[in-house]
Amino acid sequence: MARILKIARMGHPILLERAKKVEDPCAREIKSLVDDMITTLDSIGSFAGLAAPQVHVGLRVVLYQVPKTTNIARYELTPEFDPQGVPLTCLINPEITPLSDEMNLGWEGCFSVPGLMGEVPRYQSVLLKAQSLSGDIIQREAHGFHARVLQHECDHLDGILFPMRMRSMNRLGFMDEMVRYHQKPQDINMVD
Ligand code: NI
Repeated sequence: MARILKIARMGHPILLERAKKVEDPCAREIKSLVDDMITTLDSIGSFAGLAAPQVHVGLRVVLYQVPKTTNIARYELTPEFDPQGVPLTCLINPEITPLSDEMNLGWEGCFSVPGLMGEVPRYQSVLLKAQSLSGDIIQREAHGFHARVLQHECDHLDGILFPMRMRSMNRLGFMDEMVRYHQKPQDINMVD
């Protein structure tokens, strides 16, 4: 029976630790952890991703999805933009490599930094390598918002929260105030 797990918030030391490699992606404990993470996300509602350290488990496990959208203005428009999105995907031991030096700024939020959002620089394009729950190799390129979500989630595995990537604390604030004064709501991509 899958459980709803408690979310660790900024200040909890596990969010600053480097998560450990999963030795056996097919292990029953990993499947059970992922089931619990999915149940946890279902209880929260809309989301783009969740990393295991956010549920107090220091292992290199990430869940993410890029919602299919009809509201294209919500997403960073790039030639590679995929309106079909990415279905819910589990990544074990993910590694990302930037495909170029190009970076862009976008707004992010995080379950572990509740109520706040900030403008974060991320690489436009990355190469993802990971294992699946069945131990298969996952390899794909990601661009724009998809690449942003992967960078945000993989940062959680290295003890990095989005405010630590920001260039200016002037661009960190409470969501309702930031939406009111800084940004049109349709331009905001929330990460998790
Ligand atoms: Ni996060």
